[in-house]
Amino acid sequence: MKILIKNIKQLVQVEINPQLKVAGKDMKNLSCINYAWLAIENDKIAGFGKMDDWEGISDWTDLTIIDASDKLVLPCWCDSHTHIVYAGSREGEFVDRINGLTYEDIFQRGGGILNSAKKLHDASEDELVESAMLRLNEIMLQGTGAVEIKSGYGLSFESELKMLRVIKKLKTLSPITIKATFLGAHALPIEYKERKGDYIKLLINEIMPVIAEEQLADYCDVFCEQNYFTREETIEILSAGKKYGMAPKVHAEQLSNSGGTLAGIEVGAISVDHIEFVGDTEIKALQNSKTMPTILPGAAFFLNLPFPPARKMIGAGLPIAVASDYNPGSCPSGNMNFMVSLCCIQYKMTPEEAINAATINSAYAMDLSKTHGSIAVGKQANIFITKEIPNYSFIPYSFGNTLIETVIINGEIV
Ligand code: NIG
Ligand code: FE
Repeated sequence: MKILIKNIKQLVQVEINPQLKVAGKDMKNLSCINYAWLAIENDKIAGFGKMDDWEGISDWTDLTIIDASDKLVLPCWCDSHTHIVYAGSREGEFVDRINGLTYEDIFQRGGGILNSAKKLHDASEDELVESAMLRLNEIMLQGTGAVEIKSGYGLSFESELKMLRVIKKLKTLSPITIKATFLGAHALPIEYKERKGDYIKLLINEIMPVIAEEQLADYCDVFCEQNYFTREETIEILSAGKKYGMAPKVHAEQLSNSGGTLAGIEVGAISVDHIEFVGDTEIKALQNSKTMPTILPGAAFFLNLPFPPARKMIGAGLPIAVASDYNPGSCPSGNMNFMVSLCCIQYKMTPEEAINAATINSAYAMDLSKTHGSIAVGKQANIFITKEIPNYSFIPYSFGNTLIETVIINGEIV
């Protein structure tokens, strides 16, 4: 199977010498070729260049030709933070927040993550696979070609493993590249209210060995926050996760400055996510680390949280990734086009910085930047073709609109 896309108005995010991530002032660079061609062979990008230099086709067998006149081609979005496996929805809590309750008030009365845990307990594996597949298909048509999915609405031995087995099944069913994360430390279940140590023991001594045996997770994550898990507990859980082959990630500094970023850096986390409340200490520590600071502007938008200091972090030479956080409580949307718009509109990132954050840097946060996140020869052929639009800045500018016309995943039009 071969695809040739010709007459591309602008081929965006091309790399001759592929990098694993971009940081600081380099985030403003976005390589493009105007009036370009792109060739795909099987599931990989086989070549690209200027139309003027195109030497034609020698072998026409099995070739699909797409004319992309006046259209742009980009690498698919990479979404390094989602909770796409869940049961039911939480619009009731959304209305409660409109009427004055806070996200924290709702959690304290047994809602929030605990509400989703109740719903997930009652759902079968098949039901969870079916609803998650709908969401995966939805984000795929919105241009997402690689996604990380977390457990964390199970909060018990059976239900956490149920979630992770669902994610393993999704890996076989969906063409999108999927990474799995164990987030048993998402919240303390009510039955463990006075026995937090026992819950942590359950995570480490009972659930992690099964995860390792069945190879259910690539990463381990902790919600490090007041009333959830402390910095010390975060380090304990993530260090144990490493012994079971799971690289660390952290939900850090979302609602307060709680030490998640420093905990993540200490254990060598691949990413620290949310980071609304990072300060100068965390920025300094991130400068000497390989950890990817990841912003989740959809959740901050939906919960009316303060914005993370994105400009300050880029100014300090840091990379930034952006992900959706798609989940029923703090961001019921996985639309990465909208996340890119929020980066620009609210966080004052330029379109180049936002697109880098949503492609190569978000791929890095899933260990996928060798194969995803840019247009480079040999990378996975996960790309999208836009409708007729003037240039890539039009994508964040035209927020909320559907600008994607064709999505190609693993070299196949979906
Ligand atoms: O990333 N912050 C913790 N976890 C999720 C929200 C989970 C929920 O409310 O269901 C987040 O925002
Ligand atoms: Fe999250």
